[in-house]
Amino acid sequence: MKFVVLTIFPEMFASFWEYGIIRKAIETEKILASTLNIRDFAEDRHQVTDDRPYGGGSGMVMKPEPLAAAIRAAEQKAPSAPKILLTPQGRGFNQKIAHELAAFEELVFVCGRYEGVDDRIDHDLIDDEISIGDYVLTGGELAAMVIIDAVTRQIPGTLGGEDAAEKDSFADGLLEHAHYTRPHVFEGKAVPDILLSGHHEKIDNWRLESALMRTLMKRADLLQKKDLGAKEIRILKKWSRRIEDILKSYHRAHGERREGTEKKS
Ligand code: ADE
Repeated sequence: MKFVVLTIFPEMFASFWEYGIIRKAIETEKILASTLNIRDFAEDRHQVTDDRPYGGGSGMVMKPEPLAAAIRAAEQKAPSAPKILLTPQGRGFNQKIAHELAAFEELVFVCGRYEGVDDRIDHDLIDDEISIGDYVLTGGELAAMVIIDAVTRQIPGTLGGEDAAEKDSFADGLLEHAHYTRPHVFEGKAVPDILLSGHHEKIDNWRLESALMRTLMKRADLLQKKDLGAKEIRILKKWSRRIEDILKSYHRAHGERREGTEKKS
């Protein structure tokens, strides 16, 4: 995978390429990463990349000429790449889009700065617009890093285990199961026995149950969207019966008071 990033702050990426899985992916040539400085494509003496907005108002707009020239230079470096503008107005980034982008051989990221880029750039030179969330950053650079990081994990061979990305949270519509490492007991809390049993089927079942419970507790919205399998429904039913039993014994112990029927004092 070749990543080309267009930015007025290429230095922001210097350390990003230098650590962890991204660094290893570069070293093993799973990814090829480079930046183009948009400023280098400005033709004036001061290499200006912004200007005041037509119609007035506060803030500056990214000038179209240097950006267009930079995008055309990126097309030379990565001819098959979709050109992706990072903007809060783009489609919301998620694991599905990370997977989708990982299928390309090349990707070009265009990092906007200031109040935004001249609209004529959006329409003519950009193939996709992506946002990493409903908040406004000072530029697209952090968003490009987020996306490059998530996409790199999807490239086979970049993670330790062969199928590690398939087990990531969201990969199958669930959050990932709980993880434990040594020591066996930490501050009085022991690792669940089943994980020490060596029984792979039971461990897989436990992990599915853990993933389902975590998703239910932390992101119930994901469960509502998910196409549940028979095994998953069985686990959820088991837990719903347990919750019903807990509530029944609670009501037995405290009388038949139900939610909303308490007397106000
Ligand atoms: N640039 C500024 N804010 C952004 C966001 N939320 N996502 C992507 N690019 C941005």
